[in-house]
Amino acid sequence: MEQKLLLTPGPTPIPPEVSSRMAEGMIGHRSNDFNKLMESIQPGLKTILGTKNPVAILSSSGTSALEAAMVNLVRPDESIVIIVSGSFGDRFRNIAKTYPFDVHVYDVEWGQAADPEKFEEFLNTKENVKAVFSQSCETSTAVIHPLNALGEAVKSYNSETLFVVDGVSIVGGMKFDMEQDNIDCLVTGSQKALMLPPGLAFVAMNDTARQKAADNELPRFYLDINRYFKALEDHSTPFTPAVSLIQGLERVLEIYHEEGVENVFERHRNMQDMLRAGLRALGLTMLVADEYASPTVTAFQSGEDELKVIKDQLKSEHQITIAGGQKELKGKILRIGHMGYMFPHDMIRVLAAIEAILSDYRNENYYGRAVAAAQEAYYGKL
Ligand SMILES: Cc1ncc(COP(=O)(O)O)c(C=O)c1O
Repeated sequence: MEQKLLLTPGPTPIPPEVSSRMAEGMIGHRSNDFNKLMESIQPGLKTILGTKNPVAILSSSGTSALEAAMVNLVRPDESIVIIVSGSFGDRFRNIAKTYPFDVHVYDVEWGQAADPEKFEEFLNTKENVKAVFSQSCETSTAVIHPLNALGEAVKSYNSETLFVVDGVSIVGGMKFDMEQDNIDCLVTGSQKALMLPPGLAFVAMNDTARQKAADNELPRFYLDINRYFKALEDHSTPFTPAVSLIQGLERVLEIYHEEGVENVFERHRNMQDMLRAGLRALGLTMLVADEYASPTVTAFQSGEDELKVIKDQLKSEHQITIAGGQKELKGKILRIGHMGYMFPHDMIRVLAAIEAILSDYRNENYYGRAVAAAQEAYYGKL
């Protein structure tokens, strides 16, 4: 029996101490204990989302936060632009189409990052755009978009146009600074870099976005973010929250504090470098250029048959689960998640397993090649 290793870009493994905190026992959500818990987690959440403002917590999956951002920040008939570079940009587009918004899509080739200059040119061809929506990390392609430059492009188009960012697969694994990057609203979920089970979603808004949400007449109920911010003033939630996940979140934030947030981000970058060096040493091709590669998920290409063998045998022979491509990238890439409760030695394990699989499949000796490259990438930096 070998220990299982879940290296998907979410859900991700849960630290044992987080699991035990979640198992400590239920508390009433209308109790002082819960209010204290809610108060205690705000500072850590603010640090991780890079904001001075309170962070609303919804008990639902990441998509609810994407939808909450839209229904609170866009009024009926307003024009918005969505950057679509993969499955989750598509998610934003599909949500937007559900509502009476005037939706413009800025399509980016899957595997590429949005080019801020071209994006600004596109934006300038549209009139009266009230909000721009983008992923930070497009999980389906493992790209990170240049948020700072995109934020500048949005604000130079019109300083009142809101910049809304989906950080679901990256918040907690990379530094965020909403003010510096001109982000008016940043959303994320619990089950990725934040080392929790699925079930919590987070919404951070600056004062401009909060005001727009307060004034917006679009009908909504559970996703009316004003209710969450109002309840936060009393360290509470408007509806029964996923109490045990919030208990676990308190432990997660303690872990960030113990390891040091900067060290957590560096660990993610190190895992990224190790994987890219190791996979390249096996002749595998990276989908994404180094400049736009995500510190939380890595996508690589090869022939469809070889990719299938790698994914299947990782699972059947090595107890390691990784993810395939989605939609138009199905059969063309594999994705390894490296976020949250994952470490450099996990990268060594998955690379050693891929060496063994490819040595057999290609009938050539690959032992040690990826591991050596990854070790050089990691220890060479220390
Ligand atoms: C970037 C991104 N946005 C949104 C989502 C949707 O989150 P959920 O599946 O929790 O609704 C995901 C999930 O993988 C994601 O990676």
